[in-house]
Amino acid sequence: LEAEALAALEAAADDAALDRWRAEWLGRQDGRVTVLLRGIREVAPDERAAYGAAVNALKQALEARLEARRQALKRAELERLAREGAIDVTLPGRPQPLGRLHPITRTLRDCLDAFRAMGFRVAEGPEVEWDRYNFDAARIPEDHPARDMWDTIWVNTLIDGKRRMLLRTHTTPNQIRVMERTPQPPVRVVVPGKCYRQEATDATHEWMLTQIEGLAVDEGVRMSDLKGVLYEWARAMFGTDRRIIFHHSYFPFVEPGVEMAIDCFICRGDGRQCHTCHGTGWIEILGAGMVHPEIIDNAGYDASRVTGFAFGIGVERVAMLRWGIEDIRHFYSNDLRFLGQF
Ligand code: PHE
Repeated sequence: LEAEALAALEAAADDAALDRWRAEWLGRQDGRVTVLLRGIREVAPDERAAYGAAVNALKQALEARLEARRQALKRAELERLAREGAIDVTLPGRPQPLGRLHPITRTLRDCLDAFRAMGFRVAEGPEVEWDRYNFDAARIPEDHPARDMWDTIWVNTLIDGKRRMLLRTHTTPNQIRVMERTPQPPVRVVVPGKCYRQEATDATHEWMLTQIEGLAVDEGVRMSDLKGVLYEWARAMFGTDRRIIFHHSYFPFVEPGVEMAIDCFICRGDGRQCHTCHGTGWIEILGAGMVHPEIIDNAGYDASRVTGFAFGIGVERVAMLRWGIEDIRHFYSNDLRFLGQF
């Protein structure tokens, strides 16, 4: 009998089958073992004790086996779930594409930090600009040959029939804008922004570029202050062992005017075939100079006491020199193999 019961128990494969098995064998009313126990009345009196003990032992054994079977089924079920839902923790994870700052954004921010540390405030101005601010107020009247220095992208609207709009060709109009809203000196400001030029591109020229205009106006501001500020900034950007050259240049809005260049990282100054510096050994990174007294005067400042310096940095050129990028056109061609390196 025990063997029969245990065989049936092994065959029960889920909770419902176990319950049915329990009713058949251990059910209170007519479970087969219960019936056996009740049958004790028909057993001869001197055999009853042994009979009772044997049937009770059977009952307890079956109850214990039932419980064990229940546990075994539960464990098997958990193992199945674990196996089917299993994750292979040794597989490498899928990489999450991570965004990052554009190299020009990084360079721009680093430059602004360096100027902030020297007491400059950061301001901004419009990308679509009036003819008047971009040129006239900067002493570049219509028909002035210097307008050819900036091939202009005009916005084709003649507001009120005469005021022409353009995409600013440099950040210099902000010199005028900042002084207009600063009643009296001192002025110490840097103005970052995008500029646009209609020109053929090459390794160091793009039709869109980022500039940082700098302006410091006060009593007693001198050329040596300009040099000091620019050298300090250049050390912050390039370290101490790059070579820097200053030479005379011309811009209508400064007098005297200068340009600053850094030694070409590609040919190290002597490559006649170098496409990046065109064989000169130097890469221009900014124009600068002492603000023309006429502009100081137009701002309503006393030009007999007040002087100023200004500069305009080409941020793309700075980034090229920092990282050894041989062509400015990489920055805006959106090739992730290039951008992903920064
Ligand atoms: N605006 C000039 C340029 O775009 C740079 C410059 C700025 C020169 C300020 C002198 C002073 O080329």
